[in-house]
Amino acid sequence: MNLSDLNKIALAMVTPGKGILAADESSGTIKKRFDAIKVDSTEDNRRDYREMLFRSQEAMSKYISGVILYDETIWQNAKDGTPLVKLIEQAGAIPGIKVDEGTQPLPNCPGELVTVGLDKLAERLKKYYERGARFAKWRAVIDIGPRIPTQTAVRVNAHALARYAALCQAAQIVPIVEPEVLMDGDHDIDRCYEVTQRVLNRTFQELRVQRVALEGMILKPNMAISGKKCPKQAPVQEVAEKTIRLLRSCVPAAVPGIAFLSGGQSDEEATAHLDAMNKIGNLPWRLTFSYGRALQAAPQKAWSGKPDNVPAGQRAFSHRARMNGLASTGNWEA
Ligand code: 13P
Repeated sequence: MNLSDLNKIALAMVTPGKGILAADESSGTIKKRFDAIKVDSTEDNRRDYREMLFRSQEAMSKYISGVILYDETIWQNAKDGTPLVKLIEQAGAIPGIKVDEGTQPLPNCPGELVTVGLDKLAERLKKYYERGARFAKWRAVIDIGPRIPTQTAVRVNAHALARYAALCQAAQIVPIVEPEVLMDGDHDIDRCYEVTQRVLNRTFQELRVQRVALEGMILKPNMAISGKKCPKQAPVQEVAEKTIRLLRSCVPAAVPGIAFLSGGQSDEEATAHLDAMNKIGNLPWRLTFSYGRALQAAPQKAWSGKPDNVPAGQRAFSHRARMNGLASTGNWEA
């Protein structure tokens, strides 16, 4: 492993003013998104949609540091035959790849999940590197409920994240370590805080045990935030302050950057929260976005599968990217 090169890539992924576009929806997830705009999820439509995003010159060159791709996309070519990976590189952004293979029910833990995909991962990483990927992503999913998460689910998911991260670094690929605590329940912000703290502490413990170099990774966490169905929704400033306090308590300063997931927040909330955190300032790591839905909901709607709407889709994407770029330096204004 060349740690200095890994560190350079990690820092480039969190360049101030820029963040990551998570365009790595699995075939099942992108179908759900396309269903909402009444577009058939065919291979060509998925390609056309993602080509529209990657050809958004303003967004890609000014506000996007890297793009997380799904396996299908990394091998796809644009309509004119240019590999989609090349479009990303030509815009000055770094191609990345989702390498987990989704979740499976966790035995003995009803309702809980474990992320899979470690088998043959070393070989897959080698092929992705050859194709141009310089970072990867693995998402663990932790749900909050009356008696969950169990310590079992927290431990096995942290173990898999660390196994993945170590394999990435051995392949000269920067791992995005994503332990996502879902915001789907009716729990309050303090319960989210407590669970996320347990999850992050366990994750960093496993990363240390498996000798992952923290300088060569990016953390992708959820924010400390109220569950979607919680009657009391914490305001922006409380989310920002609690998230910073939480991260300070468990993320070592050696980690170059933290890139949040949006997790079902509205577009504006995701921007406002990131901005409020960066306005607090004086942090040991750079804080930016690695949003999927909060960057793509608007362009998906504007595009709606019609070639004539490509410029409108690109404008919508550039707008959200610019707003989040401003938030990544605490310079966004509501
Ligand atoms: P959301 O921002 O839509 O949560 O997606 C980010 C992501 O990559 C989840 O794994």
